[in-house]
Amino acid sequence: MKVLLLGSGGREHALAWKIAQSPRLEKLYVAPGNAGTAQIAENVNLSVGDFEAIGEFIFAQQIDLLVVGPEDPLVAGIRDYLEADVRFKDLLIVGPRKDGAILEGSKDFAKQFMMRHGIPTARYMTVTSEQLSEGQQFLATLQPPYVLKADGLAAGKGVLILQDLPEAQQELEKMLEGKFGKASRQVVIEEFLTGIEISVFAITDGRDYRVLGSAKDYKRVGEGDTGLNTGGMGAVSPVPFADAEFNRKVEEKIIRPTVEGLKQDGIDYRGFIFFGLMNNQGEPAVIEYNVRMGDPETEVVMPRLKTDLLELLEATAQGRLATSAFELDERYCTTVMLVAGGYPGSYEKGNVISGFEKVENSLVFHAGTKEVNGQIVTNGGRVLAVSSFGDKMEQALQQSYANVGKLSFKGMNYRKDIGQDLLKLMTKK
Ligand code: AMP
Ligand code: GLY
Repeated sequence: MKVLLLGSGGREHALAWKIAQSPRLEKLYVAPGNAGTAQIAENVNLSVGDFEAIGEFIFAQQIDLLVVGPEDPLVAGIRDYLEADVRFKDLLIVGPRKDGAILEGSKDFAKQFMMRHGIPTARYMTVTSEQLSEGQQFLATLQPPYVLKADGLAAGKGVLILQDLPEAQQELEKMLEGKFGKASRQVVIEEFLTGIEISVFAITDGRDYRVLGSAKDYKRVGEGDTGLNTGGMGAVSPVPFADAEFNRKVEEKIIRPTVEGLKQDGIDYRGFIFFGLMNNQGEPAVIEYNVRMGDPETEVVMPRLKTDLLELLEATAQGRLATSAFELDERYCTTVMLVAGGYPGSYEKGNVISGFEKVENSLVFHAGTKEVNGQIVTNGGRVLAVSSFGDKMEQALQQSYANVGKLSFKGMNYRKDIGQDLLKLMTKK
């Protein structure tokens, strides 16, 4: 099999690492990739948004399977674009068409979908600029805090959570006037859900699905969940409070109705689904859908997959997941993200990273890295993810942190409390 994987983050390095272990792999290309993917695959200098160039590359290299890492090309319709070209009638693709990617591309669509299929989620109202006063009235019927979401993709920044009603009403107006550009011309106003957040990952071929596991990520830059939001500073899988009973509810009330709902709506969805959930005293509700894997969650979910990933992806694209093998590692996997000083604000690039050769018994997934004259240097805000296994979560965390101490670059920052909240919850029980 010749495979092309689109993306350049820690998620893509983790996917590439797992695909590269498959005996079925003939050749793996990653576009554009990073210094980590370059060590196990061939990086190709293509932008994930340049469908024409991607199509030409797929044709020239006779790619058998395309795996799309990030959401943008999916929402923009990369699958639809390739399927419209007869040259690609045999190409296997993991990632939904536009009609499925809109689950992430439009929060209003996602809410309507959940309502239609009886999937638990927060009460909401969607408004456009003509409906400002209705929106402001709806806000007044809710309890604080108030949740405002730009309908469209806003690079993870389109959600506001506000304590004060007049402020929320004002922000609603600003959003509708274009605070987040086109993305917030339509705004979803939502009831605030209380509880603990958890993510669950699944892969579906449009009929059947496999649950890849649960994970918790740490979005704030500072210890104790303080400071600005980031793409994610660390992750743990599985989440210890997701016991068998909770997982059963997630499957019965959320995953299965979602896959069934897509089928009923005539959406042939083949790819990953990331369920962003709130656990309120054992009852799950959906906060959001993503049509891709999470980052850094992939760096803890993929290591736990015992089955051949390439085989799983092929089965997904071909619609034969039901009969494909599937097994997860029971152990915990944790990851600690090393980030550039200043991230998520402005930060330096091009700082040399040292210590790779000293790392033992952890997996180091690259995110923002590149190779310059034989040296690996920083090339983004999130730089490396250090992932480790443990029979207990503490052991996995200890192992990750022991190796974090061996890696360094100028300005390196990381959170020292990944998993600590979960450990506390477990001792309370
Ligand atoms: P989203 O982009 O939809 O994941 O929202 C970003 C973050 O805002 C989520 O990860 C939650 O922490 C928070 N959030 C979004 N919607 C709600 C809600 N209805 N209730 C509570 N928190 C929410
Ligand atoms: N870590 C959250 C995300 O990938 O969206």
